[in-house]
Amino acid sequence: MYMSTDEVRNAFLSFFEKKGHQIVDSSSLVPHDDPTLLFTNAGMNQFKDCFLGLEKRAYTRATTAQRCVRAGGKHNDLENVGFTARHHTFFEMLGNFSLGDYFKEEAIKFAWEFLTDVLKLPAERLLVTIYQTDDEAFDIWNKQIGIPADRIVRIGDKEGGKPYESDNFWQMGDTGPCGPCSEIFYDHGEHIWGGRPGTPEEDGDRFIEIWNNVFMQFNRDADGVMHPLPKPSVDTGMGIERISAIMQGVHSNYEIDVFQKLIKSAADVIGYDDLSSQSLRVVADHIRSCAYLIVDGVMPSNEGRGYVLRRIIRRAVRHGNKLGAKGTFFHKLVGPLAEIMGSAGDVIKQQQDMVEKILRIEEENFGRTLDRGMTILNEALDNVKGDVLDGEMVFKLYDTYGFPADLTNDVARERGFTIDEAGFESAMESQRQRAREAGQFEKDYNDQVVAQSASDFCGYTQDQGQSVVVELFVDGASVESLSAGDHAIVVLQETPFYSESGGQCGDTGVLETSTGRFVVHDTQKIGQAIGHYGVLEHGVLSKKDSVDANVDKERRNASALNHSATHLLHEALRRLLGTHVMQKGSLVRPEGLRFDFSHLEAVSADELKQVERMVNQQVRRNLEIDTNIMNIEDAKALGAMALFGEKYDDEVRVLSMEDFSTELCGGIHAHRTGDIGLFKITHEGGVAAGVRRIEAVTGEAALDYVEEQAQKYAEKSDEMANKAKSLEKEIQNLKEQLAAQAGSSLTSQVKQISGVNVLVAQLDGAENKALRGMVDELKNQLGSAIIMLGNVADGKVGLIAGVTKDLTGKVKAGELVNMVAQQVGGKGGGRPDMAQAGGSDAQALPNALASVDEWLTERL
Ligand code: ALA
Repeated sequence: MYMSTDEVRNAFLSFFEKKGHQIVDSSSLVPHDDPTLLFTNAGMNQFKDCFLGLEKRAYTRATTAQRCVRAGGKHNDLENVGFTARHHTFFEMLGNFSLGDYFKEEAIKFAWEFLTDVLKLPAERLLVTIYQTDDEAFDIWNKQIGIPADRIVRIGDKEGGKPYESDNFWQMGDTGPCGPCSEIFYDHGEHIWGGRPGTPEEDGDRFIEIWNNVFMQFNRDADGVMHPLPKPSVDTGMGIERISAIMQGVHSNYEIDVFQKLIKSAADVIGYDDLSSQSLRVVADHIRSCAYLIVDGVMPSNEGRGYVLRRIIRRAVRHGNKLGAKGTFFHKLVGPLAEIMGSAGDVIKQQQDMVEKILRIEEENFGRTLDRGMTILNEALDNVKGDVLDGEMVFKLYDTYGFPADLTNDVARERGFTIDEAGFESAMESQRQRAREAGQFEKDYNDQVVAQSASDFCGYTQDQGQSVVVELFVDGASVESLSAGDHAIVVLQETPFYSESGGQCGDTGVLETSTGRFVVHDTQKIGQAIGHYGVLEHGVLSKKDSVDANVDKERRNASALNHSATHLLHEALRRLLGTHVMQKGSLVRPEGLRFDFSHLEAVSADELKQVERMVNQQVRRNLEIDTNIMNIEDAKALGAMALFGEKYDDEVRVLSMEDFSTELCGGIHAHRTGDIGLFKITHEGGVAAGVRRIEAVTGEAALDYVEEQAQKYAEKSDEMANKAKSLEKEIQNLKEQLAAQAGSSLTSQVKQISGVNVLVAQLDGAENKALRGMVDELKNQLGSAIIMLGNVADGKVGLIAGVTKDLTGKVKAGELVNMVAQQVGGKGGGRPDMAQAGGSDAQALPNALASVDEWLTERL
């Protein structure tokens, strides 16, 4: 019976749903709150605390199709991916979970029913393993299911290993929930080499493990001691690619529908025909991990998760280049992937643009150094003595050309070399050491404080209240009482002071007793307790004292406005820029807010304006801000925005602003959006690759900001006006100087009429105002002359006549200028030695000036 991968996934989830399991979404690839884990690597990760009894959920049976990444960290298979039948960076794990509900018997029966009834796998092809001493599991398989004893293999502890170090004892890590397991194997047939589990040939490909059923029974502590779990539980995992291979009658995972289509798409975007190429498999595998990691909020970078992502992208790009890819290609696979993944592809579709862009940018960046790095690497390999490439070279390629060590290793291996990993590591370590020495480290003395108590927070509804001091700390040590001047931490039984959380800063205020006054500068959580950080101004303060706790209302209210505005901003960004916008961090203080979010380009001035407008519209709508405590599933059903990678309790606080925004939030908010008054963006910039930051102000601070800006503009514009005036003056002077110079160049055109110097000229383009200066200058230079200048500026005619004193008896400047003016549609006159006029007929000017000679000849 053929089944597509999508059909297998759906069949699995609905089978377990019918068996009373809640279908739970795959959790993020970035494990929340679990520093021991680089990436989600098994379906049970999100249920870890349930197994340990630390977390209760509304259901006790769950089923998931969990996306997993097993690359990087301790078990790094990256360099094998593409070269074996079953190594992947990314895979989906189908699982069913009993959270203290059923145990071995049901788990085994469910697994068997699904494989033989739903998938109709022939029983004789299946074989199981159990933990050496697990007779209970043996009996269930043998007596209840009817598997012959010779097909139930007992697997013990590894030779020389400690107890429980066995293929059939599953542990998530060195600590945490664990237990014996029973694995189900599929026999791919005699034609494939390999032996049964437990035999020396077990690593062959004939018998393939398809499903692991873990009977969670213990919590292993750091000393290796096994503590029984509160309730035995079940965790199972079946790699969807392996079971799909069986359902599709193929042997290698790369032959299943999903990979065949992806390989075809990879071949298309690279422009390569031979679909059997191992490099195509590498690319097909890697696009899955890269796309899903980015969907889950990982960005390529030089450290931690981001670096693993970067390594995988670069490896894919290198393999594409090897096949002759021209330009960038990897990002073009995101669209096909989203389709090919069926129902698991929806999360990619929601952020497709974003994922494509991040990959494209990373490809472009790497592309710039790839060729040069390859040349250097190949040269180095040509010259290697022996068969190991030295660590310094590997480091140089890493440091200068962005070649992750496993990529160098990949290339080296293709040419029959290995790399000196230890040498590389030590070169890396020296670099880290240099970085550390360059960096500054601050001691956080608060780390030392361990509070014994748990405080109640009553600040959502009040900003003052009576309480009792339960703990006091000075310099990290617990004390009985404080004296004046002590810098200390005060813990109260109940407090209206909000402790810093969710980006919102802690409250400030005062704690007062009949004898003392403690000024609170900050409020922080210390475990379950709420610590008031500050200084005892006067008097004494002792444990068990009653205090009046008064929050600084103004500061808190200002913070509350900023927090509510942050929610409006978040939603406005998602509506205007796209749903790829995810909160990456926020800081809410009385002075203003800061919001970091995923987005690839700078937000344009126009977009910022729109965002600001949308937020202010919601402010004017004066939406009611409402909080509700509800079940997390109900909150999700409401569409409440949750943060990726955040861990939430079953009961969550949902903050809604009518039809505009719904978010999970524990912060302190305004009552209505109208309280915000005005929202004003003050800054936009980048903080990391793909992460932008907006800073903004609200309420009074926004008004202050607007006023300040207006003031600044007013000052600026005065300044500008003064500057403009002095520039104008300067220009005028310069023009006059220029005119004078132009005038002097006219002297060559002087002619004689009856022995008198006569200058008649047309100057077009000069300033009419400058003509007078020019005539004065000419008179000075010529000593005795009659000057007639015509000028056309802006289509208007300007005329000026000048006659030196010795000649005014014969010719009057006024008459001369008037004679010319009449011919150009104007009129004029003036003093005998200097007269100006205007005219409108520029075309007539040359002829009018030409008539001057004759007119003068008659008079001289
Ligand atoms: N957690 C188990 C595994 O990963 C099912 O194999």
